[in-house]
Amino acid sequence: MYNIVFYKNNPCHLFTSHLQRSILSSAILTTESTPLMCQDTLLLGHVLSFVASPFETATPADAVQWHEAVLLRAGRVVQTGSRAELMTQAPQAQVVDHGQNVICAGFVDAHVHYPQTAMIASWGKRLIDWLNSYTFPEELRFEDPDYANQIANRYLDLTIAEGTTTVASYCTIHPISVDAIFTAAQTRGQRVVAGKTCMDRNAPDGLRDTAQSAYDDSAALLAKWHGVDRLSYAITPRFSPTSTPEQLDAMGALWAQHPDCLMQTHLSEQRDEVTWVQELFPQARDYLDTYEQFGLLGEGALFGHAIYLEPREKDRLREVKASLIHCPTSNTFIGSGIFDMAGLMAAGQRIGLATDTGGGSSFSMLRTMAAAYELGQLNGTPLHAAQLLWLATQGSAQALRLGDKIGNIAVGHEADLVVLDLASTPAIAQRHAEANDIWEAIFPTLMMGDDRAISEVRIAGRKAV
Ligand code: GUN
Ligand code: ZN
Repeated sequence: MYNIVFYKNNPCHLFTSHLQRSILSSAILTTESTPLMCQDTLLLGHVLSFVASPFETATPADAVQWHEAVLLRAGRVVQTGSRAELMTQAPQAQVVDHGQNVICAGFVDAHVHYPQTAMIASWGKRLIDWLNSYTFPEELRFEDPDYANQIANRYLDLTIAEGTTTVASYCTIHPISVDAIFTAAQTRGQRVVAGKTCMDRNAPDGLRDTAQSAYDDSAALLAKWHGVDRLSYAITPRFSPTSTPEQLDAMGALWAQHPDCLMQTHLSEQRDEVTWVQELFPQARDYLDTYEQFGLLGEGALFGHAIYLEPREKDRLREVKASLIHCPTSNTFIGSGIFDMAGLMAAGQRIGLATDTGGGSSFSMLRTMAAAYELGQLNGTPLHAAQLLWLATQGSAQALRLGDKIGNIAVGHEADLVVLDLASTPAIAQRHAEANDIWEAIFPTLMMGDDRAISEVRIAGRKAV
């Protein structure tokens, strides 16, 4: 249970779940004589707010405004400013001084497979063999609701400890796997996007649905979860090789009925996969067309990987404002290739950042930023620390069409925050000590940091770590 102070008709209830609300209201009845209030929290430190995309300003650092303090109330950011100004504005606030630490938005991981938590770091295969050898056998285990609940809770505990406050996750074909992650997120007050993974071919027995059952199950889950508390549903055909045209058509029909939902899938991750798609869909103009012809292309479409894109595909993706999700640790771990971050960003694509757990080799968005930097270097285009942090927060939030709610410390935003200790290990501390400016101070943590650098996490204003 979160340690919050509250009063009747409490605005703190903004982000409490139905379950928490019923616990809280029974507590209210038993504490009638206690003076109850929704206490403001004032965090002091180096507060990082984006005022623009660091890919669009004259220098990346121009996109950032630094403040000394941020004031939180009822799960939201109400003000940023100087320490003196905010202390005057909220003299009753509980003050938490984070000293020289950086306070930024919680990380937003725009593409994960929470069911792959227990088989992360599986050796030696490339995409299709990796799916058949490791992924599908593990996903079969989610038939068991107890196992699904156990892994969903384990996954969220692991990722919150890494500073991740929002994820967009694939589930398995089992509806219970969707219930498991949404229930686990709900008890933590977390904003999570997820959907039932649909597959009706090229998957083993026990891991295939049909076009009709995928439609029916997805529609029922969407009705049950979409818009409840901080949860939203994403229509989730795994990728064209594991869906028949009939299933893709059914998913397109469902999306047309619910355009406010996101749609997530994979696109052009490995060359063998692209060739296989050409064989499976001989009439299609390209890989993207296998989605486009069934209504699965539009704003709100999230395409994981998107490494081997044809010019037509790039044009259409940009025109419709679909999102490309860069998964750098996965792209090296499964041997997929190098995503052209600089070229695609310069061309105006919408891009988010993700771990792709467990094809990715880490749960950490710090490790993911390091991998994005290293891949950028291989392409001759190193990313600035401000660009990396933007991708891991506001960039991913915009990809999920949540950029006005999360992914930044801005007035009115939901208070999902992370506090970064810039000297969390001796190795990082000694490099940090040599820094000449704030960006040089931050960069070693982005490159070498892990969960030890995550000094505090707040979800809707409440301390989670
Ligand atoms: N393509 C289809 N399914 C998957 C998956 O689970 N992981 C990755 N990395 N690529 C995929
Ligand atoms: Zn994936």
